[in-house]
Amino acid sequence: MGFALARAAEEQGMIVTLVTGPTQLSRPDGVTVMEVETALEMKEAMDSYFDQADIIIMSAAVSDHRAVLKSDEKIHKDQFPESLNLIKNPDILISLGSKKRPDQVLVGFAAESHDVVESATRKLNDKNLDWIVANDISNKDIGFSSDKNEVFLIGSKGDFLHICLADKCIIAKEIMDAIYPAWLEKAH
Ligand code: C5P
Repeated sequence: MGFALARAAEEQGMIVTLVTGPTQLSRPDGVTVMEVETALEMKEAMDSYFDQADIIIMSAAVSDHRAVLKSDEKIHKDQFPESLNLIKNPDILISLGSKKRPDQVLVGFAAESHDVVESATRKLNDKNLDWIVANDISNKDIGFSSDKNEVFLIGSKGDFLHICLADKCIIAKEIMDAIYPAWLEKAH
């Protein structure tokens, strides 16, 4: 969805920076791409672009935890611990929400398997977002590793849009069509 949104935004004439983890997807034309590998690197990249951004969309499925054990070389069986210790990654979106300016629009994603709209609305409020895009991940035909999606777009001012099953590029365009006028209203 991140790549589809970057394309849709660029086609609407916006200057786009796409921060992405490792992927096989081809880079969208006309978009600045910044590649990261870890949640901490993604946080650093998002923090560095945040001040200059008007619309910030966090569609990445960021890992909530990372392993304490890290090695650039192969760890052999006999050196491997019985269990892995995990530590929490920072929630990038919460930290962006806490420093958001009134003229910026911050959009999050919520992948939910039940009570999709209720859980997403809670995240919208808890993370101080302007919009949240909610996905039902119990439906295996859409979302991750699929070209198609079906989402609910929920706004902090009470807007509610059900975007029915369609190619991700169409979903992305509909999301941008809803968000852009809302940003114009906020910023002017
Ligand atoms: O709370 P949950 O992980 O379901 O929220 C999903 C939203 O939070 C997504 O927009 C995702 O990009 C963002 N997120 C984040 N940093 C994390 C975990 C999730 O920015 N460590």
